[in-house]
Amino acid sequence: MYHVITSVQIVLNCNVLKRLAIFASGSGSNAVKIIDYFADSAEGKVVVVFCNNPKAGIIEKAAERNIPVVIFDRATFRSDSFAEQIAAYEIDWIVLAGFLWLMPVSIIEKFANRIVNIHPALLPDYGGKGMYGMNVHEAVWRDKMTETGITIHYVNDHYDSGDIIFQASCPVLPDDKPQDIQAKVLQLEHKYFATIVEALLRSDKN
Ligand code: GAR
Repeated sequence: MYHVITSVQIVLNCNVLKRLAIFASGSGSNAVKIIDYFADSAEGKVVVVFCNNPKAGIIEKAAERNIPVVIFDRATFRSDSFAEQIAAYEIDWIVLAGFLWLMPVSIIEKFANRIVNIHPALLPDYGGKGMYGMNVHEAVWRDKMTETGITIHYVNDHYDSGDIIFQASCPVLPDDKPQDIQAKVLQLEHKYFATIVEALLRSDKN
């Protein structure tokens, strides 16, 4: 008795690279770390940078790495079609790396649970409107906190209040100035952000 095999389906375990869009407003040191990290990752790659500040340092740094940059103004950002403009790049995940505007609901809905932000403090402390960059470190310093850190979290339609994915802390010493605190926090951001994003992509089976 013979069984004739007419078709064979081979399921290969081929990992499809997830496509990342980075949103950045400033110097873009985190964005650069992420672009460079994912240049060698089996999980994803950065395909576009969106930037709302025509003078931002990230524009040149992304161009040097052959990553296209889309510069947009507030009206475009708030328009109904902007989520579609992002989706046109076939984006799987959005990474906010020093991006300071509140994400519109249309983008949050389009990329539900696929937008992550990094915040330079241990949320829920030192978050909310106006709490970004040096404002955060100056507040930590004024309050004589002995510890600060970073928070990587999902993005919802309120500032800094989406579910927390990861936190890491560092000490604030009595002699530290806000600039010292900023440097320590940035070091943590550079150490962890890309690897945490990569872990999210790895666990994303869609
Ligand atoms: C980073 O410290 C990031 O955590 C912060 O802006 C800085 C951008 O630095 N983001 C926020 O404050 C968001 N609320 P970079 O441009 O060198 O990456």
